[in-house]
Amino acid sequence: MHFLVTAGPTREYLDDVRYLSNASSGRMGYAVAAAARSRGHRVTLVSGPVELVVPPGVRVLRVTGAREMRRATLREFRRCDVLVMTAAVSDYRPAARLRGKIKKGRPAWSLRLVRTPDILTACAARKRGRICVGFALESRGLRRYALEKLRKKNLDMIVADSPTAIGRPAAAVLCLDRTGRDLWRLHASKAAIARRLVRTLEARAAAAGPAPRG
Ligand code: CTP
Repeated sequence: MHFLVTAGPTREYLDDVRYLSNASSGRMGYAVAAAARSRGHRVTLVSGPVELVVPPGVRVLRVTGAREMRRATLREFRRCDVLVMTAAVSDYRPAARLRGKIKKGRPAWSLRLVRTPDILTACAARKRGRICVGFALESRGLRRYALEKLRKKNLDMIVADSPTAIGRPAAAVLCLDRTGRDLWRLHASKAAIARRLVRTLEARAAAAGPAPRG
């Protein structure tokens, strides 16, 4: 199978040196890329700015902002069988990016933020048999909000975890299938969660048959 994995944060610049971003190490996505590759799959990784080593055999496309991540992910999506969207995409970006480094003359500075596009929703709207997996980061109502995102974004699976896992080597996650049924819960290293997810996706793909292209 061909896995398309997104990982890490995006950065939304206010001027040439300052940006808004999300706390995200990229570890979960890199672990999924490594697990899929070690099972013999083709893997394309769309990565925001992180300080991690790309797993051997994985093709990486490095991006910075949400709009750039959207372009790269939508382009690659056509060629994949499975999208695993672990990236912590910024939901807002500054309405304008100012040139240079803005001087700190003013005593206060209000920013106008605008929404960034939802990449996963855009991909899932064109999925035609491809499997789309989201990650839901929830500080409360883990199952309820994950289920809401699964339905709203038209996903085949969602993995819910909590912000306590950010930057850590392990996490406690809940994986739901497209009907909202609990598939598994796992408190383990991100590498072990990634292996479990890849095996679950292999089983799904085998049950569904080949994904139509185009
Ligand atoms: N996602 C995306 N594009 C965005 C925001 C999120 O593709 N602009 C994806 C994430 O990569 C993740 C899933 O959507 O797989 C859920 O992301 P999450 O941040 O948990 O939820 P949001 O949809 O951003 O909603 P909220 O911030 O209100 O919880």
